[in-house]
Amino acid sequence: MKVTRTIPEIRSLTSEWKREGERIALVPTMGFFHEGHLALMRKGRELADRVVVSLFVNPTQFGPNEDFEQYPRDFERDLALAEGAGVDVLFSPEPNEMYPPGHSTAVEVEGLTNGLCGASRPGHFRGVATVVAKLFNIVAPDIAIFGEKDFQQLQVIRRFTKDLDFPVEIVGHPIVREEDGLAMSSRNSYLSPEERRSATCLFRALQKARDMASQGPVSAAGLKEALEKEILATPHTRIDYIFAGDPETLEEQDEVGRGSLVALAVWVGKTRLIDNAIL
Ligand code: PAJ
Repeated sequence: MKVTRTIPEIRSLTSEWKREGERIALVPTMGFFHEGHLALMRKGRELADRVVVSLFVNPTQFGPNEDFEQYPRDFERDLALAEGAGVDVLFSPEPNEMYPPGHSTAVEVEGLTNGLCGASRPGHFRGVATVVAKLFNIVAPDIAIFGEKDFQQLQVIRRFTKDLDFPVEIVGHPIVREEDGLAMSSRNSYLSPEERRSATCLFRALQKARDMASQGPVSAAGLKEALEKEILATPHTRIDYIFAGDPETLEEQDEVGRGSLVALAVWVGKTRLIDNAIL
């Protein structure tokens, strides 16, 4: 596996592959790999001839009081894991390479970013959309793979890819979970053993939502109330949001049923966790 730090280096590799008619998959990440990331890389291996993984803890998607500095990093371990997953090249630029002095352009997706994580993390999706658009221009992939764990992010990326005519096919990958249902996340490493036990309440709440809607549509208000109870009965938790609505428009629905999206953001101690399910 090759490691590249600069835009000209990765460009020359991918343009060479393109000249040879090879299909390129891109998996954007912020590193500290877990099985969720590795599943996306293996999917890339399956769908394309070449797999590029970007590893960049993107400063512009973190708010001023968020965890950019503390975000977990382990470059050597990530290298070994990516190599094991069959990745051809790891693109890991320094912040200055991506945002040289004077950088002042951003990609802003309207509407879809108003609610859910967009409401509690202002500017977050602007940072995500901008860095992913840059990665698309730098790597020029045929396909790009994203996890459904970050469901709103996936929809935001689908939206700007279409709106800005990027010739990139966006592929979503199902959520990869721990045995007890907790969605894998680099941020799970922040949890104390006790908080780790509490963290399963997100998955339990989603299962409750599935149960409640299994016989047909139910009131969103009633469903949210039941989920709130389930979560708040768990120690160390504070709810950021519970969303129940349309997975395409990300608008709330009064009644939810088959095909509706239920999405959660819950603080467990000082760690904010997200999870979701399509009913
Ligand atoms: P990061 O959190 O590192 O996630 C990288 C990719 O892995 C994302 O597409 C995310 O949805 C996916 N992923 C994370 N946990 C997953 C899980 N348990 N199951 C399936 N997929 C999972 O998301 C980002 O980085 C950044 O915002 C990024 C898109 C790289 C832009 O900076």
